[in-house]
Amino acid sequence: MTFISTSAPGKCILFGEHAVVYGHPAVAVAIDQRISIKIQPSTSGMWLLDGGTLNMSRNPHIKGLIDKLWPVEDGAPPLSIHIDGNIPRASGLGSSAALSVALAGALRLARGRLVKDSKSNDQDNWAEGYGSSISESDAYGTDNGLFVSNNGEELTLIIGKQAVDADENAILAHSVEAAAQNGRASPMDSSTCSHGGVVVISDQIEADLTHLYRRELTMPDGERFWHIHELDLGKIPEDVYLVIGSTGVNAPTSKQVAKVARMLEQNPARMEEIETIGKIARRGIDALIAGDYEAVGRTMTENQIMLKSIGVSSPELDSLIKAAAPTSLGAKLTGAGGGGCMIALTRNPKSTSDAIELAGGRTLISKLGSPGMKIDSQTEITFWTKS
Ligand code: MEV
Repeated sequence: MTFISTSAPGKCILFGEHAVVYGHPAVAVAIDQRISIKIQPSTSGMWLLDGGTLNMSRNPHIKGLIDKLWPVEDGAPPLSIHIDGNIPRASGLGSSAALSVALAGALRLARGRLVKDSKSNDQDNWAEGYGSSISESDAYGTDNGLFVSNNGEELTLIIGKQAVDADENAILAHSVEAAAQNGRASPMDSSTCSHGGVVVISDQIEADLTHLYRRELTMPDGERFWHIHELDLGKIPEDVYLVIGSTGVNAPTSKQVAKVARMLEQNPARMEEIETIGKIARRGIDALIAGDYEAVGRTMTENQIMLKSIGVSSPELDSLIKAAAPTSLGAKLTGAGGGGCMIALTRNPKSTSDAIELAGGRTLISKLGSPGMKIDSQTEITFWTKS
């Protein structure tokens, strides 16, 4: 039986979670832990997830991507989806963004892409798709896939690796993350899980970094925009690791994001704390660009003080962070908080990991900046094509 499989990494946020939702700078790194997706045509005529019936309402990310890339109303057939991987769920490590990115890539592989000129896969040449450089593309809508075949242009179907685009995977993952988080999501997780490496988000274009694209989103309380950049991996020293400590406490991102939004509604003056996190993140970006990892660690620890102040830390997180402190350059919660995971930046991964485990955490060790979405297996044919 033919199948397609893709994978995408999880992520850790070094600086700026929560404040990034309000347009402030942030930095995330892709980690070694990944989610893998395998898709194949369903032989039962029903949508399947890991062998059972796919419950669309319990899997909003999957449903959102099917709505955008796999239009059943146009005859796209039901698929069987398998999810595997070693990113713990609801732990702040980007498991839902990794799942969304990997599935977006797999669905694109399964349908190929119609382009105007077969020799070029630039976004401007696409006849269908969702990308930052396509100005007419309604990337956050569900009904405008930019099909131009009606106006007489001859289109070519490209398949395989060249049909897949990291920007498209990121934009689609961001839109389904935003829907699952009641309209509030930064592009941090989706861009990091798609592009891999180190992703810096800023409210301005950073001269020393590679600018990828600008993202916008209309949130319940106004417009936000972000500039997304890549930081050159060559700048990361070989002997610096992240030790990730899981509290084992499930903490869905949507609840934590809503908690911060409620706090700001009740007391708008507390936006100052969010702004301080943004300033700390800017210092962290400068330290990363300068390659000063002692300063990166110190800035992470300062970031944690502010995260605690806005109420997204927890006693379990605090105790793992305290245990990691003596052997690390800096430590903080990562992701939405309230439970989930903390991270320590360290040159002594074994000692830091042992200390976190002794304090009751489960650890994972990762280098900084793993590769982004990968195609692990592909077919010579599409499973369905828009005509
Ligand atoms: C979640 O990994 C990070 C948050 O900042 C939410 C977001 O950026 O959408 C808490």
